[in-house]
Amino acid sequence: MANRVGILTGGGDCPGLNAVIRGAVRRALKSDWQVTGILEGWRGLLEGKWKELDMEAIRGILPRGGTILRTSRTNPGKRADGLETIKKNYAAAGLDALIAIGGDDTQGVASKLHDSGLRVIGVPKTIDNDLSGTDYTFGFDTAVNIATEAIDRLHTTAEAHNRVMVVEVMGRDSGWIAVASGMAGGADVILIPEKPIDLDDVAKLLQHRVERGRCFSIVVVAEGAKLPSGKGVNISEKVDEFGHTQQGGIGAVLATEIEKRTGYETRVVILGHVQRGGSPTAFDRVLATRFGVRAMELVLKGESGKMVALRGNDIVSVPFSQALTNRKVDPELYRVAETFFG
Ligand code: F6P
Repeated sequence: MANRVGILTGGGDCPGLNAVIRGAVRRALKSDWQVTGILEGWRGLLEGKWKELDMEAIRGILPRGGTILRTSRTNPGKRADGLETIKKNYAAAGLDALIAIGGDDTQGVASKLHDSGLRVIGVPKTIDNDLSGTDYTFGFDTAVNIATEAIDRLHTTAEAHNRVMVVEVMGRDSGWIAVASGMAGGADVILIPEKPIDLDDVAKLLQHRVERGRCFSIVVVAEGAKLPSGKGVNISEKVDEFGHTQQGGIGAVLATEIEKRTGYETRVVILGHVQRGGSPTAFDRVLATRFGVRAMELVLKGESGKMVALRGNDIVSVPFSQALTNRKVDPELYRVAETFFG
């Protein structure tokens, strides 16, 4: 009987997931392995939901956003006998190995399953680009391009009205999207979770712009940025199965404070899930394809407990232990961005 690999996508979706799936499936079929698509992340392995992935199943998916396997933020650790049920269903599905595509939460579960004796390979995913172990995650480039286009568009309306535009972008624990899109879009202030917001400082930068004749400004803020009190802003205090609150709303708080301190008319735009939707950029398609093919090649080599990663221009593999911490914005990159503030 042919060998069989399972593939699942867990956590928030991200442009490029389908390109990874396509890469891994094409590489598997070339070596006469069969592929099972596990549906809805870890929920599929808990509840026995999966389907065959053959050539027909992956036709036309390279440019498609989302994930043909769907996803969820299911944490097997939160279910009674969760990991045991997964092990049972791994055997029931006839799997010889599993490729888990996801962020730190998904990789954390993958790591536990590897420790318990299953063969698991990880593929890093998050638009936030904040996974340690890899220089880039796919989906980030797409999100940055979407946010940059939005910032470009907001410039013209901000200028027409002499307004401050606060643009809230995603980035729960780190400000990579804010810094990259803010730099690419020419933002006048960029605020990130790594550096608590100093409201007086922000007001001074905006006033400085007006003094030099620029009567409008663009402020980019990451959703996870912290107020001077050290607190963030959440849409809801409800936590998901991995303990994350639903973030969002810092932009509105900031806009009110800016207007209060400067008297400048201020508006807020929350880009939210628009940044995760639609077709991946060419960069993300190529990176995701390389990750998918390499993940399957690690499976073919009999490896386990590793995550594929990008280091410079090379695809490498790193142990799960290196992939489980949050990667903060490079201070040097932020220092360059600051040159253009105010
Ligand atoms: O982790 C990626 C991310 O896009 C964060 O930036 C954001 O806070 C979160 O996911 C939103 O998740 P959900 O889709 O559950 O609202």
